[in-house]
Amino acid sequence: MTVVVEAKNLRQVYKIRRGLFKEPAHLQAVGGVSFAIEAGKTLAVVGESGCGKSTLARMVSLIEKPTEGTLMLDGADAVNTPSADKRRLRQAVQLVFQNPYGSLNPRKKISAVLEDPLAINTTMNAAERGERARAMLAQVGLRPEYASRYPHMFSGGQRQRIAIARALMLNPKLLVADEPVSALDVSIQAQVLNLLADLQQEFKLAYLFISHDLAVVRHIAHEVLVMYLGHVMEQGPKADIFERPSHPYTQALLASTPGVGARNVQKIVLKGELPSPLSPPSGCVFSSRCPYAVERCRAERPLPRQIESRIVACHFSEDFLSSGFPAEKPG
Ligand SMILES: Nc1ncnc2c1ncn2[C@@H]1O[C@H](COP(=O)(O)OP(=O)(O)OP(=O)(O)O)[C@@H](O)[C@H]1O
Ligand SMILES: [Mg+2]
Repeated sequence: MTVVVEAKNLRQVYKIRRGLFKEPAHLQAVGGVSFAIEAGKTLAVVGESGCGKSTLARMVSLIEKPTEGTLMLDGADAVNTPSADKRRLRQAVQLVFQNPYGSLNPRKKISAVLEDPLAINTTMNAAERGERARAMLAQVGLRPEYASRYPHMFSGGQRQRIAIARALMLNPKLLVADEPVSALDVSIQAQVLNLLADLQQEFKLAYLFISHDLAVVRHIAHEVLVMYLGHVMEQGPKADIFERPSHPYTQALLASTPGVGARNVQKIVLKGELPSPLSPPSGCVFSSRCPYAVERCRAERPLPRQIESRIVACHFSEDFLSSGFPAEKPG
């Protein structure tokens, strides 16, 4: 299978100004994330608010340059690209955002929304562009004559279909979708997810799919990457992660979402509040909230390592895999 995107150790650190005479603080939003996505496959990124999902999306879609790390997109180095190649790479990756209301210009007809990328990036004439826009509307389940309407005439689900159509106009290889169904009603969510799955099959698209909702992720993902405070806690094939999590944070997320994962999931109640990314806990970043944390967890940061088909960053994953998550703190 063709690997469409490969990220190695992507890191993003923001400088936060704290006033005229103070040194700026450094906030690590993403601290070394690696993954690869093949054509036709979906990697879902999950985790609580502020864990770095959108920052990762911005790096992978070339909106932000990573502080560190490498990104190969469609066979080319996407971080240090000569400008001649930039254009091709920018077409290869497209974004779909959460808010279908904000992401479409209210003063543009749908025809212009869909045809503008073609006018800018291809040599197609007006008739060809119109033809392709109407064909794409049909592809996303909308009537071709909708091309002459304005965004406000559509429902949220329809607008998200239009945003998806726009993203596909230049035949991208990778779609980065940042919470694409979170603003939609649950009944509409399933329709849009099914559409995304159909389009993926048809065009062999790779998806980087960002969501905090594990029920949605279970529906669409092939691989899952669980993030906490900018770090990967666990990543691997969906079935393994959902049926046999080996990181307490994954377990906690699964246990808090009814109807996903294995039955009889041991409830894990997270302690305390989410720490500030400006002062992350020492050792394992999850240690301040982990019910199983022991001294070693606060002293020594577990590096991501491979166990069977997954990668996990916890000192005790082998134990959790073989004996499950105990009801009480071990030791
Ligand atoms: N441009 C920026 N400058 C400074 N800090 C930022 C910037 N963008 C994001 N952050 C910080 O980086 C961390 C990760 O933010 P990010 O938006 O990637 O999280 P997220 O997982 O997408 O959250 P949500 O689920 O709420 O969308 C947060 O602590 C956020 O405040
Ligand atoms: Mg976000």
